[in-house]
Amino acid sequence: MTQRPHPTIIQGGMGIAVSSSQLAQEVSRAGHLGVISGTAIDSVVSRRLQDGDLDGSIRRALSHFPNQDVAQGVLDRYFIEGGKDPAKPYLDVPKLTLKPVQHAVDILVAASFVEVWLAKEGHDGVIGMNLLEKIQLCIPAQLFGAMLAGVDYILIGAGIPAQIPNLLNQLSLGKPVTMAVDVADSKTKHFISFDPGCIAGLSFPIKRPLFLAIVSSHALVAYLNKDEITKPDGYVIEGHVAGGHNAPPRNRKSKDDEGNPIYTEQDEADLVKVLNSGSPFWLAGGYATAAKLREAKSHGAQGIQVGSLFALADESGFTAALKQEVIDALTSENLTVKTDGSASPTGFPFKVAVLPNSLSDDKNYEKRNRICDLGYLRTPFERENGGVGYRCPSEPLKTYEFKKGNVDEAQHSQCLCNALMSNIGLGQLRPDGRTELPLITLGSDLAGPTTLAKLHPKGWRAMDVINFLLAD
Ligand SMILES: Cc1cc2nc3c(=O)[nH]c(=O)nc-3n(C[C@H](O)[C@H](O)[C@H](O)COP(=O)(O)O)c2cc1C
Repeated sequence: MTQRPHPTIIQGGMGIAVSSSQLAQEVSRAGHLGVISGTAIDSVVSRRLQDGDLDGSIRRALSHFPNQDVAQGVLDRYFIEGGKDPAKPYLDVPKLTLKPVQHAVDILVAASFVEVWLAKEGHDGVIGMNLLEKIQLCIPAQLFGAMLAGVDYILIGAGIPAQIPNLLNQLSLGKPVTMAVDVADSKTKHFISFDPGCIAGLSFPIKRPLFLAIVSSHALVAYLNKDEITKPDGYVIEGHVAGGHNAPPRNRKSKDDEGNPIYTEQDEADLVKVLNSGSPFWLAGGYATAAKLREAKSHGAQGIQVGSLFALADESGFTAALKQEVIDALTSENLTVKTDGSASPTGFPFKVAVLPNSLSDDKNYEKRNRICDLGYLRTPFERENGGVGYRCPSEPLKTYEFKKGNVDEAQHSQCLCNALMSNIGLGQLRPDGRTELPLITLGSDLAGPTTLAKLHPKGWRAMDVINFLLAD
């Protein structure tokens, strides 16, 4: 099979479900790489089913899932005809663990399949799925679900994705896989395993997608390229102004008055070294104008990965109200995006847009009762008795302390799982009648978004972004 030329524009994977199947499909139809976010997609699909799957798209995708018993199991558990009672909370999917129950695996596989299938529906453009390496426990099952829908690219950052190429090789052959996972406070190695045979009735091989590692340094390119078993098919080189999570600065001690990280020139990747590695690469983080695309190409890049501009497009998963709030702030040049060193439970710096009705406002943050009920960012840790527990810095501080978590570092931790579900209109309802509040992430280089906001103050479509980026 001949390999298609790589795309010029990658629409970045943005969780949770900001990079929706609709957004990815539009970008792909235009001849570029549309990427869906796989992060927490099991929760997204299960909540949409509980909201009645009003356009029928999830059920349509599930009807193409290669094992209809599994598809029916997902529907039986989550689908509510006409939608759930709005006064009732959503039923959660099971939390990820080292040894998950089968229906937790089924919904991970099926939901990844659904989102990729919908993004690919009705055209033959290329589609990718983005995951975070930090959320290790879901990776094998989600890769497999996406592969069952014929995903063309996998893109993974927020960690060192050295195990992914081999996982993709094995899964495409239908072989059981194991993946080493980080367990804090443990001296022994821990693994998760996944057997494609858990979805009965499949035949192999299936297509092995290309893998792009999202990294911030040339050193990581050299490290991953050293061995065929860890070498990806290309790289997205993401700078520290990018939206979402950022790699910490090399000098972890350099912080501003608010304790947030300060980046310097030594945090910039050496693009000559990246080019000399021979691997194709794309640049990301503030590469959001036609001039920046030309600049990227002058460095030998295939093109660019763009996040924020697409996050604000009509087809993205953010609610329409949030998008308009951000666009209004951009138009009036009144938007602040900070690099928050303590917001994300992952410990990575995280970009936060300062918006009054969100958790970026300390008053709203203080009012929220801490709870960890989705648990994607929990870290496995070894208990004194040798068993494995799970902890998250945004859970109640007493619980976190009991689990030997560092409470000082957890003081300002945000529950990204619940906030990011709220960003896309799927916020959980709490017993006191409140619905979880949003927390918006966006890149801090606002040149491209501000220009586009002034051209389209009432919003724009994905196609407008592409035309803007490809303008002469
Ligand atoms: C709302 C939002 C969510 C993001 N979520 C993710 C994510 O889940 N995984 C990831 O690898 N990158 C994520 N990113 C980064 C983008 O994929 C992209 O690399 C980055 O936004 C590029 O910088 P730009 O925003 O200046 O265009 C996110 C970015 C934004 C704006």
